[in-house]
Amino acid sequence: MTLAPLLHRSDVTVANPDLLPLLGRTPVARIRTDLPHAHPGFWAKLEYLGAGGMKARAAVSMLTAARRRGELRPGAPVVESTSGTMGIGLAFAGQVLGHPVVLVGDTELEPAMRQLLRTYGARLELVDRPAAQGGWQAARIARLREVLARTEDAYWPDQYNNPDNPAGYRSMAAELIGQLDHLDVLVCSVGTGGHSAGLVGPLRRRWPRLKVIGVDSVGSAIFGQPARPRLMRGLGSSIHPGNVRHRVFDEVHWVGPAEAVDACRRLARGSFVSGGWSTGAVALVSAWAARAEPGTVVATVFPDGPHRYLGTVYDDDFCHAHGLKATAPATRPLEIPHPRAAEAVGWTRCRTVVDPVAPVPVPGGAPLAAHVPAPGGAV
Ligand SMILES: Cc1ncc(COP(=O)(O)O)c(C=O)c1O
Repeated sequence: MTLAPLLHRSDVTVANPDLLPLLGRTPVARIRTDLPHAHPGFWAKLEYLGAGGMKARAAVSMLTAARRRGELRPGAPVVESTSGTMGIGLAFAGQVLGHPVVLVGDTELEPAMRQLLRTYGARLELVDRPAAQGGWQAARIARLREVLARTEDAYWPDQYNNPDNPAGYRSMAAELIGQLDHLDVLVCSVGTGGHSAGLVGPLRRRWPRLKVIGVDSVGSAIFGQPARPRLMRGLGSSIHPGNVRHRVFDEVHWVGPAEAVDACRRLARGSFVSGGWSTGAVALVSAWAARAEPGTVVATVFPDGPHRYLGTVYDDDFCHAHGLKATAPATRPLEIPHPRAAEAVGWTRCRTVVDPVAPVPVPGGAPLAAHVPAPGGAV
């Protein structure tokens, strides 16, 4: 199943139907490069080989559903806060469905990414300082509300909380079911929660014993760690996205930027496919999962390609300036019994997955929510 038939069946006018065959339909690659240790191999879904990258699936889904409900009028502007990848996806969806796109980013957005977004016809609004409470994400949302207030008919998809974001990944699930004979372990990076939430349902219906591993950034609040300034973009968040389905994960791993850089560079040199922070992080964890239980079939999603990251992940000066030194790579993650047991500063695994904003009582203690810092002060 691709999105094209869904759109053709719907009552939504498609401005540029010739673009639809470019969406999704991405290949899976068998990855065997040492990451950094030898492993039997895993499958990677190469989303950068579809137009607009992984987030184009979510973007087309959100805009189509909003059009169908009448929340987005034909030709009306779409406004979203993004650190990049969703911007590309929305630029694609805007062209498909005929909507101008306004993106609220921040000055941390890589110059090449800004240029790319403008090249695809999006208008950029950049905030130049983080909010005192809530960091860059809060500053972008404040500006987004200003843009919404002054733009007639503007529509905000709200990728963090919109259920049509996960729904956009049904097409990816259907592709994976067609591409893989069997699947034991799915490894997903988590940012808005969209692709993990969207994939798990259909994949578990096909393979009921499927184990799901979430991969987050160190310093991210999503799985109950304290929010800190983060270097890695894409995965992780300083807020608590409504689309993250904590209950679907069997375990969570936090990965640090130096580990992601090492994995990205090894992938690029040894497998010719690579990506950015989230790709490096999921590759590291997928290789470990394949090695930890020989015989298991492991698959992951590489959300985008390497080009956006030439000035960061693949730039020696950037890595040196940020202290991302090539150190002896770990063979396995550190284990912690609970997200609150210790703060992850490098690759760390936890088999207890909690929703930090759900009022779940912990034995002998206060509700977990009481231990979670307000989403402030972080990037
Ligand atoms: C490059 C990249 N990787 C991974 C993710 C995480 O995906 P999701 O938002 O579906 O959880 C994002 C989300 O913004 C992203 O931009």
